[in-house]
Amino acid sequence: MKKSITLALLFLSVFAFAQQKTIDEKVEALIKQMTIEEKIGQLNQYTGDNAATGPITINPNKQAEIKKGLIGSMLNVLGTKYTRQYQELAMQSRLKIPLLFGQDVVHGYKTTFPIPLAEAASWDLEAMELSARISATEAAASGIHWTFAPMVDISRDPRWGRVMEGAGEDTYLGSKIAYARVKGFQVNLGDVNSVMACVKHFAAYGAAVGGRDYNSVDMSNRMLWETYLPPFKAALDAGAATFMNSFNDLNGIPATGNSYLLRDVLKGKWNFQGFVVSDWGSIGEMVSHGYVKDNKEAALSAITAGSDMDMESNTYRYNLEKLVEENKVPIALVDDAVKRILRKKFELGLFDDPYKFCNPEREQRELNNPEHTKAAREIAAKSIVLLKNERDVLPLSKGLKTIAFIGPMVKSKRDNHGFWAVDLKDIDSSYIVSQWEGVERKVGKRTKILYAKGCGVESKSKEGFAEALNVASQAEVIILSIGENWNKSGEAKSKSNLQLPGVQEELVKELQKTGKPIVILINAGRPLIFNWTADNMPTIVYTWWLGSEAGNAIADVLFGDYNPSGKLPMTFPRDEGQIPIYYNHFNTGRPSINEDKIYKSAYIDLPNSPKFPFGYGLSYTTFEYSNLKLSKKEMKNNETITVSVNIKNTGSVKGEEVVQLYLRDKVGSVVRPIIELKDFQKITLNRGETKTIEFTIDNQKLSFYNNALELVSEPGEFDLMIGSSSADIRLRDSFELVN
Ligand code: BGC
Repeated sequence: MKKSITLALLFLSVFAFAQQKTIDEKVEALIKQMTIEEKIGQLNQYTGDNAATGPITINPNKQAEIKKGLIGSMLNVLGTKYTRQYQELAMQSRLKIPLLFGQDVVHGYKTTFPIPLAEAASWDLEAMELSARISATEAAASGIHWTFAPMVDISRDPRWGRVMEGAGEDTYLGSKIAYARVKGFQVNLGDVNSVMACVKHFAAYGAAVGGRDYNSVDMSNRMLWETYLPPFKAALDAGAATFMNSFNDLNGIPATGNSYLLRDVLKGKWNFQGFVVSDWGSIGEMVSHGYVKDNKEAALSAITAGSDMDMESNTYRYNLEKLVEENKVPIALVDDAVKRILRKKFELGLFDDPYKFCNPEREQRELNNPEHTKAAREIAAKSIVLLKNERDVLPLSKGLKTIAFIGPMVKSKRDNHGFWAVDLKDIDSSYIVSQWEGVERKVGKRTKILYAKGCGVESKSKEGFAEALNVASQAEVIILSIGENWNKSGEAKSKSNLQLPGVQEELVKELQKTGKPIVILINAGRPLIFNWTADNMPTIVYTWWLGSEAGNAIADVLFGDYNPSGKLPMTFPRDEGQIPIYYNHFNTGRPSINEDKIYKSAYIDLPNSPKFPFGYGLSYTTFEYSNLKLSKKEMKNNETITVSVNIKNTGSVKGEEVVQLYLRDKVGSVVRPIIELKDFQKITLNRGETKTIEFTIDNQKLSFYNNALELVSEPGEFDLMIGSSSADIRLRDSFELVN
């Protein structure tokens, strides 16, 4: 059996090699026929007719340019009808090189899944791979070849609106998720259900100073390698076909023109064979950065550094030929970029059939596939985080007579869809399930549901409070749904104030006075600050923006058909003044143990601890951790230690727990974090059930980048911690790495 698997694998790799060889030959043959204009055309990407996702710089006659072979790729063209129209134009060009259609399919296409940050809270890698796969299937069926996802930027700053697009603050979790998402999107390049992934934004975009979008980043290379680059590497290991560079400058050099990042690391050390697309207009933006004096210099800098495709800045289109003529850009550099792009077009099978992704029947079928809806509901439920349930108000009984469902988010559909939902013009949005619809369907006719909006999300008016109180007075239980609107976390949505907007928290205070049980639902794209609510309300559910099945998933959790299992992938601060705040920080020479403030590394007006820590989330059941065992207490570099631990479901219902393994390297040649996630397992336990789970400690888990940027593990003692969150460590031990 083993032998036949090995033989099959050997056959597949020989086949892949042979196929690659023929593709390379085809690319070589084609490029020989191309004029310099046609070559540059392949490096040129324009936006189409759907909503632009950035500022449009020039609007040339795209139709005519496509026919001349001057455009290689488009974004924001959605649907087989429209991609076919553009592709037909490309087929009128001299060499008939097909167009590549890219799109931000970030958390779903028609079926939307939770925003990526929410989905990361599921800690369920299979679920995330599945949602990427479904997104790819729908997008590919709708004419798209390429998604600008996953976004793998680590961020420790919830002021940055783009935290909603990523996996949060942790490098280990972020790397696992990056890998799973790429696998999900790409499955098998060339398959009609696959799209190319585009790992973005390379690199360190999530560390923009002050959390302000597009801002500068200044960090040590050691920090870059240890914290920010690993998710990119993981995505590459998963086979990511393309990368996108980032808007920020890194240590003074814009990422778009950054040879260190693109040439030395990505295409050099990591041997990346795919192509790099610029971010929207980012080549031209190097002029505003003050890094180059004009678009011509911008084009020179970007192509030299290794940016292959120019998204919507037209700098290659209008400057590259001249730069080649003047011998400032060797033609080999242009050819290399063109070949990288052509290779992907061949791999996708577009030269065999440029309309391969343009089948309207398939499009209809996949965009209305009930399996996708089912998966979206399950994944949305897994992404919900139960922050508080002190009086066991949840789960709600299905026998309730009257519920007051109050708040500005109750009937909203668009907010569930979240930022970066694909804007499908021809499809009406009634399929998105509001919370109202979800709860109504769940309770049927048994329960009367009363509604009051209470207030707007942002509005300062309290006019609706009286009606809300009136409705509340008639009900046994109040569900209050508040948060931020879908367009308040996302690109260019940095915020200095993360408090619940408007008068929503005042509405919470008024309703609390009724003395009735209240369930608070918080819908948001990032960690918000809601201290009064967190301190005074016993039942809080963080529902993020959960996608098209949000209403059903929330109802599943509220009424106990799904037992919540989400854990926060980002630290929730008490105050904006604590930001950047993250769990895996260094100790400092004066650590503030137990919030001690006398000449300690502390704020005199705030605790150091967050409001809710990384890895935190409750369940309707409880779990007991016991019997931690290490197979040995000493290991050499080439050895491993097996860690086992018993987890028991001690509550009264079935539940899932994310068992988290953290390490601390006690002494290092560079200081090490006080705690670092190094493994986790999400397990399901029936009531009363105990499972023994095992983790393996290997050298990789003990390694870090030293100041010479070498990945090393150093002999010495390591603390091992097993917990239910980064701040709820249940069991501890230690071991030694020896020479
Ligand atoms: C964003 C990218 C996105 C691109 C295309 C840019 O503004 O930064 O993440 O892929 O637009 O929509």
